[in-house]
Amino acid sequence: MSSPRDWWRSDVIYQIYPRSFADNDGDGMGDLPGITARLTDLRDLGVDAVWLSPFYKSPQHDAGYDVADYRSVDPRFGDLGDADKMLAEAKQLGLKVIVDLVPNHTSSEHVWFQEALAAAPGSPERERYIFRDGRGADGSEPPNSWTSVFGGPAWERLDDGQWYLHLFDVSQPDLNWGNPEVREEFLSILRFWLDKGVDGFRVDVAHGLIKEATLADWEYAGEILGGLTPEGAPPPPMWDQDGVHEIYRQWRELLNSYEPARILVAEAWVQPADRLARYVRPDEMHQAFNFEYLVTLWGADAIRKVVDRTSSANAAVGAPTTWVLSNHDVVRHASRLGFSDGKDHRNGIGVDDPQPDAALGLRRARAASLQMLGLPGSAYLYQGEELGLPEHTTLPDDFREDPTWERSGHTEPGRDGCRVPIPWEADSPSFGFGPADASWLPQPAAWAEYALDRQRDVPGSTYELYRSTLRLRKEHDLGNGTLSWLDTPADVLAFRNGDILVLTNFGDAPAELPLGSRVLLSSEPLTEDGKVPQDVTVWARA
Ligand code: GLC
Repeated sequence: MSSPRDWWRSDVIYQIYPRSFADNDGDGMGDLPGITARLTDLRDLGVDAVWLSPFYKSPQHDAGYDVADYRSVDPRFGDLGDADKMLAEAKQLGLKVIVDLVPNHTSSEHVWFQEALAAAPGSPERERYIFRDGRGADGSEPPNSWTSVFGGPAWERLDDGQWYLHLFDVSQPDLNWGNPEVREEFLSILRFWLDKGVDGFRVDVAHGLIKEATLADWEYAGEILGGLTPEGAPPPPMWDQDGVHEIYRQWRELLNSYEPARILVAEAWVQPADRLARYVRPDEMHQAFNFEYLVTLWGADAIRKVVDRTSSANAAVGAPTTWVLSNHDVVRHASRLGFSDGKDHRNGIGVDDPQPDAALGLRRARAASLQMLGLPGSAYLYQGEELGLPEHTTLPDDFREDPTWERSGHTEPGRDGCRVPIPWEADSPSFGFGPADASWLPQPAAWAEYALDRQRDVPGSTYELYRSTLRLRKEHDLGNGTLSWLDTPADVLAFRNGDILVLTNFGDAPAELPLGSRVLLSSEPLTEDGKVPQDVTVWARA
């Protein structure tokens, strides 16, 4: 078993998206009291920790990833007292709490940006952000050719002629991490939440804080997947610059002064795996999301390779590997895996787009989750996946709030489809999301069947499958285990982790389990003669 100091090496961490988890006051928007009231459900599910997406004061132009005040709670979600109550309840239940930290940019409503707007070019107030004069005779051309991750240009011009950089929405100006004042401020923000008792931070856009010094042109589309540069392209000047690491070393020093261990988790879309592993060297962060695993298409060979590649890159720096299949930025895996067209459908699914095969998606999602939870390391779950929840793929466009939709000129539906409030009770208003029939994004009528109360204690339900899997994972301490592959036919992937054998069959021919196997869990029923059908994962003792 892991010691309290290194719990993060093996924990299962559940992502709460506060807007859509549980609404206590009935305004259609989730809130902290709603979360607090539902924490026992997460304890019962069997997760070890929760990570909350931002709940700080924010105009919500990017669903809270545009922070106006890092030390206060947005009134939509409650107040600081509610945050304290949530933390106390989590502690009481033995759940750790990780909060989101957004250091790459602030909201344009942050007092610093307001001061910068009011101040003159060249002033200390502007030095906290990335202001530049434009190009061309009259400075009317942006300072360089970068585009925003959400689409459109990455620069906005002010009336006085200067431009500021925003790698995301125009309401999310990038901070200047070359400025010591910015560094000091974030150390102070970290201390504020550490002293409140949080167990760690998920660091948003961790690969973006430092930009290449000359802000050299970059002729490719702004993609957060910076590491996935197009063939032949030079390294992107806005992502994964070496200078980011000294920031995390400084943060780690601060965290090391707290007991028990507090952690840093990098949201860094960086490839290849050994570049990403630099973020989790012993004196930097503790974990980094394994997005390379998340974007891997369904197939034995590709999955085996990504598991090997990412595990060995992490092992080389002594860090655990993390596993993740869904989050608030990608199409839910129960829908993503319902496609067999070789595409990753990363940018959302619109009502007029080809639709996934829901039954196939769920079947594969259950198999994928069982496989993921059998791997050694730490695993992340996204709220609703334990219910087998699909993406809302027919959300009417009028409801879309993700800035991607507007900024891409309505070419990318964006991420709203994975952010719809989750169903708790089949027969209640808003499916028990809140006391009223209100929900900031509409819930599909078909979601009644996914509600927790339809699945609890129902053998074979996705919820009960997750619950048994999490229980066994803990009993066998798989998070701290070691993986060894078995020799299998090409369409079958099987590994041993301690005394558990995990086998997934990707092919259409039913797969044999090793002789004498005792099946402990199966994502779907086996064939009558005890073989593993296509798109099914089994846990067995053999
Ligand atoms: C991260 C967040 C995403 C947000 C972006 C800008 O990728 O996960 O939701 O839009 O950063 O903060």
